[in-house]
Amino acid sequence: MIAVVLVGGEGTRLRPLTLDEPKPVLPIGGVPFMSLLLDRLAAAGVTKVILSCGYLPDRLRAGIGTPPPGVDVEVVVEDEPLGTAGAIRFAAVGRVDGPFLALNGDVLGDADFGALVAAHRTAGATASIGLTPVDDPTRFGVVVHDAQGNVERFVEKPPNADGLGPAPWWVNAGAYVLDPSVLDMIPSGRMVSIEREVFPELVGRGLICVRSEGYWRDIGTLESFLTANADAVAGRVHTRLGGSENAVLIDPSATVADDAIVIGPVLIAAGASIGAGAEVGPDVVIGAGATVAPDATVRGSVLLAGARVSALATVERSAIGLNALVGERARVIDSALGTDEAAGAGEELVGERRPS
Ligand code: GDD
Ligand code: MG
Repeated sequence: MIAVVLVGGEGTRLRPLTLDEPKPVLPIGGVPFMSLLLDRLAAAGVTKVILSCGYLPDRLRAGIGTPPPGVDVEVVVEDEPLGTAGAIRFAAVGRVDGPFLALNGDVLGDADFGALVAAHRTAGATASIGLTPVDDPTRFGVVVHDAQGNVERFVEKPPNADGLGPAPWWVNAGAYVLDPSVLDMIPSGRMVSIEREVFPELVGRGLICVRSEGYWRDIGTLESFLTANADAVAGRVHTRLGGSENAVLIDPSATVADDAIVIGPVLIAAGASIGAGAEVGPDVVIGAGATVAPDATVRGSVLLAGARVSALATVERSAIGLNALVGERARVIDSALGTDEAAGAGEELVGERRPS
């Protein structure tokens, strides 16, 4: 089985973290997100993964690391964004010769891709969409379907839930199995959205869907990125981290002062250090080599590799970028600092992105 993974987005909702690192290689529990996705694809029997990208391709290649055994990864680069369908076409033409998986590259989940493939084959479908239930349909592609899983309507980002039936709404989870004939429906030479142009046209022509109730989260906003990190450590989603509720995962090469307070779920990666009297957790990931100085507090946050939180500072519900610095007694709340950025000593950041 071949999988095309869409990773061309600029990750605008995750800026400034995505200014120099593409969304798919941002860390979830200290591991590049794409490595976790490759684990899942390998488990589903995928042997070739084509990453369809355009934004920061070199950083993407460098950030993925070594793929799991038996999985070959090819990166194809668009000169300009082709849209979700255009990008699938660009990546798949000449590389697939049967039904293939196509995935949004920003979804952390548990759903079994193998089950989607099996349902597609059993039904003899043209295209099959994996679904997940949500409470707010307006941010997703809503898939109205019958009891047999035949898609009746596909509505991308509806302005409200009018006419879409009662909650929960079943939406496009960003995982498809496509027959190669779908590629012929996608015009070349311009941006084409699979959600807005292709799926609506396929309704009644072999478009089916499969529900899944497992863990599912699009990591594309700051809030969901932080939650996804906490969920991975807490084992709410199954990953190689082997997390569990209230887990305290400390790498053997990290140093934690005896009187530091560490409240799970928390992960402290290789070479990180937590100073005396510091309070870290719950829902915290301290990246490799990051430091939390004495008497600082970090809650509900992610420190990327090499980030530094100075003495007596507070970081809450925030992401601190690579090698970024939170100065002494600074307060960083609901905010994000990009690579090498700083919050000055005593400064207060609430709901800010730096650089914005
Ligand atoms: N190669 C390439 N080229 N990739 C792209 C392009 C493009 O032009 N545009 C978007 N992508 C990639 C993004 O990087 C992301 O991995 C995926 O396609 C989806 O784009 P998003 O920008 O994250 O879309 P969304 O989250 O608003 O909505 C999509 O995902 C929802 C589930 O999370 C839609 O597919 C919805 O229908 C769906 O419910
Ligand atoms: Mg998304």
